[in-house]
Amino acid sequence: MTNLKQQVGIKAAEFVKDGMIVGLGTGSTAYYFVQEIGRRIQEEGLNITGVTTSSGTTAQARELGIPLKSIDEVDYVDVTVDGADEVDPSFNGIKGGGGALLMEKVVASNSKDCIWIVDESKLVDCLGSFKLPVEVVQYGAQNLFRKFQTKGYNPSFRMKDGEIFVTDQVNYIIDLDLKKIQDAEKLADELDRTVGVVEHGLFIGLISKVIVGRPEGPEIIEK
Ligand code: A5P
Repeated sequence: MTNLKQQVGIKAAEFVKDGMIVGLGTGSTAYYFVQEIGRRIQEEGLNITGVTTSSGTTAQARELGIPLKSIDEVDYVDVTVDGADEVDPSFNGIKGGGGALLMEKVVASNSKDCIWIVDESKLVDCLGSFKLPVEVVQYGAQNLFRKFQTKGYNPSFRMKDGEIFVTDQVNYIIDLDLKKIQDAEKLADELDRTVGVVEHGLFIGLISKVIVGRPEGPEIIEK
């Protein structure tokens, strides 16, 4: 069976040209994009600079010999390629299943172009079946958790190995089980205004292209 994640990862790498500053996403799909960039550097002499979106991707990129800069060392990123957990018809989406939403959103927000690579299962009519990750500072996190409970957002702390998961930026993640997000922009505004929330996984208006993995070949959907 074709590996659809690999298929879209390789396809997305075609949008990367010599001299570009490239945002390297995080997750099991972005993994293949990063591998392909590494291959092109080694085999084709591709000359790019990568900006990573997690410690995991940094480790992978270093192993592949991809030259890196931090987001603080560049003014902008030419193109970022990343995975997503859900994408709706307006190209809004949920990210953060892998816990890297903060770095991913900082890099995406500084990118001239953002491409998401997904399999068909990530395309949804309405966001919210996937639990919405909200990155929060540790101080006051239990208090914030109770506030989300009161609002009926069905929160749960992200756990790993029996402990509360700690992000690369040393925050917690509270996942909200919302089922259907009727107004993603309104919810994003509300979370943006909530003290203690560092960032949330609603990515709105950041994406120009989605590459969807299909058995018959990748489909490129443009906005
Ligand atoms: C990482 O925090 C996430 O935003 C991932 O990019 C997202 O969860 C997609 O991951 P997969 O490609 O592994 O499904």
